[in-house]
Amino acid sequence: MRSLANVGALFRTCDAAGASELVLSGITGTPPDRRIDKVALDAVEMVPWRHAPDPADLDAVFEGRYVVVLEQHATAIAPADLRIPAGRDVVLVACEELFGAHDALLARADAVLELPMRGRKDSLNVAMATGIAMYLVADQLWGTAEGDMASRQDRPPVREGVLTRGVTVGETPAGPREPKLGTRLS
Ligand SMILES: C[S@@+](CC[C@H](N)C(=O)[O-])C[C@H]1O[C@@H](n2cnc3c(N)ncnc32)[C@H](O)[C@@H]1O
Repeated sequence: MRSLANVGALFRTCDAAGASELVLSGITGTPPDRRIDKVALDAVEMVPWRHAPDPADLDAVFEGRYVVVLEQHATAIAPADLRIPAGRDVVLVACEELFGAHDALLARADAVLELPMRGRKDSLNVAMATGIAMYLVADQLWGTAEGDMASRQDRPPVREGVLTRGVTVGETPAGPREPKLGTRLS
């Protein structure tokens, strides 16, 4: 992944969705880097990660796991058709921003997952696509029971006050929970 902002977004979403590890492969930039921190906030400290610069490093990551490659491809399935076999750990593979997945990666996939594009653009931002797919996978692994919606970190919800520079301050706003213009929610 070329964009360090995308790497930062992935750290933050990995933490939110419950990923156990983020593997930064190939040319992808790694912490410490201010450009990652700017988007990740302090999620870099929360999500275990490793650097896998060589494509061969990924063999160990894939070994024994159900490999879902996120890509727009003729062999791809839609989200509704994704079935993760019981008891399998999942590796979700996000691909290069400009050129997408190598053929070797597509051949190694247990499933190629494509998110439908309903507007006029051809593709999603890769970090956004990965976030959507992470939650699809998490729903299959852990269900969507109401209890899962509670913050596992036992923190107050972000909307209790205003989130500024990573810190939530202030009282719960009275009245309807409509964001005021200019209020930062994340
Ligand atoms: C911008 S896309 C790559 C270029 C894209 N294949 C194209 O032809 O324009 C970057 C990566 O984001 C992910 N991605 C973006 N949109 C996607 C979608 N609709 N379905 C699945 N993956 C997507 C894939 O991993 C993809 O390789």
